[in-house]
Amino acid sequence: MASLGLTSIRTTGTKIEIVNQLLLPHSVQFVEIDSIEKAHDAIKRMIIRGAPAIASLAALAVASHLSLALDAPAAPEWLSSPAALQDHVQPLLDYLYTARPTAVNLSAATRRLTSTLQAGVASGKDARSIAQSLVAEGKAIDDEDVSRNREMSRRGAEWLLEQVAKKGKLPAELQLMTVCNTGSLATSGYGTALGLITHLHETGKLKRAFYTQSTPYHQGSRLTAFELQSLKIPSTMLCDSMVGSLFQHHDIAAVAVGADRVARNGDTANKVGTYNAAVLAARHGIPFIVVAPVSTVDLETEDGSKIPIEQRPALEACLVRGALYPFATDEGGVKQQATVMVTPDNLDGVYNPSFDVTPAELITAIVTEKGVAVKADGATRFDLSSVV
Ligand code: MRU
Repeated sequence: MASLGLTSIRTTGTKIEIVNQLLLPHSVQFVEIDSIEKAHDAIKRMIIRGAPAIASLAALAVASHLSLALDAPAAPEWLSSPAALQDHVQPLLDYLYTARPTAVNLSAATRRLTSTLQAGVASGKDARSIAQSLVAEGKAIDDEDVSRNREMSRRGAEWLLEQVAKKGKLPAELQLMTVCNTGSLATSGYGTALGLITHLHETGKLKRAFYTQSTPYHQGSRLTAFELQSLKIPSTMLCDSMVGSLFQHHDIAAVAVGADRVARNGDTANKVGTYNAAVLAARHGIPFIVVAPVSTVDLETEDGSKIPIEQRPALEACLVRGALYPFATDEGGVKQQATVMVTPDNLDGVYNPSFDVTPAELITAIVTEKGVAVKADGATRFDLSSVV
């Protein structure tokens, strides 16, 4: 795992720790993930979140579980034969896959490990060699993320600068808006849409980043705010309801967002509120850019109507989590955490989808580590074959 300051996952040998994102930004606490069950629980409860980060954790948890067994003085019975290994590992992969339904990266990671397992069994290798291949593949899923994030960030930023240059604007004046959190905390490092923004900043082309609070989990106000502050990127937070006002009163060069799943036609599931921002961006003629790794593109899903959308527990939309203000600290100097209810108790109904789908029609460009896809003139869908 590359060291980039802020990080969602850190590993030392077989030890995996994740930063508890429920406590950020007021308390930075790492939690050890020493079992498959803990990895599943951390993903489900959103102690770790962000499509690439949850895939990395699932892959690393499997790698660590197998490494420990390979190194154990007495090998477990399931390492005695390829069939026994398969019977043990496949249910773990199937179980991890069920932790969250929308981000396809999680199923891409578990499918990749399933393929390694099946190929190993078919090749006639012994159980220990197959387990070693799975360890290597699990680590690779995590390792690959940072370099591909840098690549898609560079490609997306260069494409945007070309578009801006065509409109005759000065590149140094760029202001971008983003939704949710797509930085180092949501990935294995650098980020996707926030990576693009970071790249513009690093190359002196960014004036300011705007980001929505992204309620109800507040990925924007808690996590993106924290990342932008630590990267010293000039930035401004806005409430989700203020996007239209922002576009009316500020010169926004583009909206850049991440994705949890991009369907074959380019329809994109991302944090709820992304669709609202895309409708408003179209109304204001602002380019709307999706930045995501190839593993987020799901060619088997025909369009957005087929993407499973996770519904989060009602209570999560009724609560706000944070630190007591004015800040009170406990004996260890940690800001005291509080969870506050902002609705009456026992509401009759709560609508709480975690994601929405932005139709391809509203998306200007889809950027992966392989390139930038735009729609053909007059088309309402993407041909993604050049970027997967
Ligand atoms: O519910 P979350 O916080 O996991 O949702 C995260 C998002 O919607 C991100 O935009 C997406 O996963 C891309 S992260 C690089």
